[in-house]
Amino acid sequence: MKALTVIPGRAGSARLDDVDEPPQSDGPVLVETLAIGVCGTDAEIVSGAYGWAPPGRDRLVLGHESLGRVMEAPPGGPVAAGDLVVGIVRRPDPVPCANCAVGEWDFCRNGRYTERGIKEHDGYCSERYRIQPEYVVKVDSALGMLGVLLEPASVVAKAWEQVEKIGGRAHFTPERALVTGAGPIGLLAAMMGVQRGIEVHVIDQVSSGLKPDLVATLGATYHTGAIADACDAPDVVIECTGVGSLVFDAMEHIGPGGVVCLTGVSSGGRSLGVDAGTLNRSMVLENEAVVGSVNANRRHYEAGAQALAKADRGWLERLVSRRVPLDRWAEALDRKPDDVKVVMEVGT
Ligand code: BGC
Repeated sequence: MKALTVIPGRAGSARLDDVDEPPQSDGPVLVETLAIGVCGTDAEIVSGAYGWAPPGRDRLVLGHESLGRVMEAPPGGPVAAGDLVVGIVRRPDPVPCANCAVGEWDFCRNGRYTERGIKEHDGYCSERYRIQPEYVVKVDSALGMLGVLLEPASVVAKAWEQVEKIGGRAHFTPERALVTGAGPIGLLAAMMGVQRGIEVHVIDQVSSGLKPDLVATLGATYHTGAIADACDAPDVVIECTGVGSLVFDAMEHIGPGGVVCLTGVSSGGRSLGVDAGTLNRSMVLENEAVVGSVNANRRHYEAGAQALAKADRGWLERLVSRRVPLDRWAEALDRKPDDVKVVMEVGT
């Protein structure tokens, strides 16, 4: 079968390959892949900067944002032939650590987790894949192809959960949220903020095109320029760019008792001048919190699925700004200025 594979660590090694049928050891549920979303992590893996092949192999099958249709499943299980499904990305470490042992693999403590399409386990960008029933999530059939947004939605649902859990250390009724970055994660974060009845502001660099329009359609407010001018003392910041200066700006401008949630994975190598004393003073005197958030466990996929089910379909359709057939995968990975979510169409 066809699969998009890459040698992690080697730029220019991605290719459409012929690979063996998925191994039985991956699980009894056989899924036909329909669509694969492309994100910054895929671009990093293809550029040679991230990713790990399965033990004893050079090549990794790419793809962690997926949508597929079940072809075979054990009777009486959570999914049946014909169901639209999304595969969970992370698998617990083999020890397992205390968090992986209770299904909180997104909080794995020893780093020995695996991730499909990213770390030591083939991804979903093959015509078919196999999976254990507990790692497959059923998607509302009404969502159709938009189910491919569930993995990024799960990451955002986790970020909002972190904000609410941390905010809940005291009385917490957030009124105003700022989202930095209007990519798919930022836009889904804004969508989930609006769904909570919060006044949402989104800040990004581009001043025209799809992103400002998608933000306005949500009922949120779009800004370019500095955080200080966009939104005064937000109760919540969901930082979705990983840009160091924005991270520190967010920490500086968060409102009293507020929570800054960092979701952007940045590359290192850049230093900033920061007045650490003043920043520390205001964070202490105002009980502010900063939290990093990555990945998602099953609970977050379920919350993400609920958020997508409540969302306006037309808005979600526009979020998927480009669809590319699998055999033109290189075009999917080549970012265009107006891209939001690019999806590779694998099956029919
Ligand atoms: C994925 C996460 C993953 C992270 C780090 C992200 O792109 O959405 O599931 O944990 O990369 O590998």
